[in-house]
Amino acid sequence: MMAGKKITIEDASSGGGAQVIGGLKSLAEKCLDNYTLEAQKIEERQARRDFTLLFALQGKEKVGFIAGYGDSGRMHIWLFGVLGALRGAGIGRMLLEKFHSVSAAKGYKIVNTITFNKYPRKIILSVRNGYRIVDVKYAPEKGDSMIVLEKELG
Ligand SMILES: CC(C)(COP(=O)(O)OP(=O)(O)OC[C@H]1O[C@@H](n2cnc3c(N)ncnc32)[C@H](O)[C@@H]1OP(=O)(O)O)[C@@H](O)C(=O)NCCC(=O)NCCS
Repeated sequence: MMAGKKITIEDASSGGGAQVIGGLKSLAEKCLDNYTLEAQKIEERQARRDFTLLFALQGKEKVGFIAGYGDSGRMHIWLFGVLGALRGAGIGRMLLEKFHSVSAAKGYKIVNTITFNKYPRKIILSVRNGYRIVDVKYAPEKGDSMIVLEKELG
């Protein structure tokens, strides 16, 4: 990790507003390869049940995020990323742990997420933190297998 400032986690779940949307859009596009996140899509997800958005801050700079919402009685991790230069330093784990405690506080017992082989760190981080692979399906449009992961909280 870059020397100096410690990482703090900010809960922006109920923040809304252009600043939060802009922050999420630019960070998600930096963290995920060839990914464009339309503001309209963020607004649609913000309207979902128990929308949850956490930012990792280094000083005032947003360096990572995790976003999700309730779906069929489970908490779903929609998007997750840490800036490339800061990966492997535990920021993803901090975000994930906070996401679990926030989800439990909202009454959820299960968190699930979807990923692909092209994101091996997400798979490793998830499995290390108690997720089980519950489904794998080839997605021809992505040329990759979709991996469904699920964790019981508590
Ligand atoms: C997935 C991601 C958010 C994890 O964040 P992170 O800050 O790198 O995560 P952490 O530092 O907490 O490390 C997570 C685990 O990754 C693994 N890891 C760390 N460095 C690694 C490396 N160089 N190569 C492979 N795995 C590594 C370790 O198992 C680590 O677990 P540990 O703390 O028990 O050692 C981040 O890597 C990322 O943004 N990746 C690209 C975007 C992405 O994959 N998003 C998910 C799309 S579905």
